Amino acid sequence: MVRFSDAGLRYPDPAGGEGQVALHGLRFFLPPGSFTWLTGASGAGKTTLLRLMQCALRPSEGEIEVLGVRLSRARRSALPPLRRRIGAVFQDYRLLPYLNAFDNVALPLRLAGRLESSLRADVTEILRWVGLASRADALPQQLSGGEQQRVAIARAVVARPELLVADEPTGNLDPRQAHRTLALLTEMNRLGTTVVIATHSQELVDAFPAPVMRLSHGRLVSFEGHDPGEVEAYGAETSPPAPGSKNETEPDDEADPDEEDERNG
Ligand SMILES: Nc1ncnc2c1ncn2[C@@H]1O[C@H](COP(=O)(O)OP(=O)(O)OP(=O)(O)O)[C@@H](O)[C@H]1O
Ligand SMILES: [Mg+2]
Repeated sequence: MVRFSDAGLRYPDPAGGEGQVALHGLRFFLPPGSFTWLTGASGAGKTTLLRLMQCALRPSEGEIEVLGVRLSRARRSALPPLRRRIGAVFQDYRLLPYLNAFDNVALPLRLAGRLESSLRADVTEILRWVGLASRADALPQQLSGGEQQRVAIARAVVARPELLVADEPTGNLDPRQAHRTLALLTEMNRLGTTVVIATHSQELVDAFPAPVMRLSHGRLVSFEGHDPGEVEAYGAETSPPAPGSKNETEPDDEADPDEEDERNG
């Protein structure tokens, strides 16, 4: 589950100025096991919102709760284990260039301490699902854009995360592959994973109907939300953060040594 309580993000200004507000005043609740589309024009804030959900950034205003952890109160050391419960498909894939497709996909399982003998079958099966079983030994640079995107999707889902955030996961796929990928993600959702997918494709949204969050200029302009009963059950009505409470604004994104550790195995 994901809860945003008047949350926002201002990117720091390298020159030391005010910095750019990318998201402001977001308030919504995604129940456990829900499936949500995220739409909005280029620059609206979709990637920023997904990075907050995957705990790669902390909000500079308000509170965010992800899988039961409140980000403003979480210790830095609590973030890497939390991130391991979240699968992410990045807009720019972020495959490790010196690892082949198999090892890129195996990475989350190895980080989780899975034995080599037990992870091989899972990695092979998911590579087969995305149609890349025969390319397991290829390095990312030897793969097409769409093939790299499918490796990134396989890596995000292989450890069966509790939350999956995917940023334009079908942007480089042909319609058949896009639908196949969505079938995989909806199947994961059926098995219990909370799924959030940013997309520019209205065709895909129409083909897989689910609540849609629409961002415009960093604000949530519409959210045909989840069943109110379902939301009630998980207590959507939280009190807003105490007035004047200010969170740590420093984003611990790429600079986070923990995350580097994770990425580099
Ligand atoms: N690292 C950064 N530092 C400063 N500003 C940023 C940074 N990343 C994004 N922004 C700004 O934040 C706003 C939201 O960007 P974001 O990448 O979240 O948009 P998006 O909806 O994902 O767009 P697209 O559809 O093009 O991927 C934009 O105005 C962008 O210029
Ligand atoms: Mg984006």
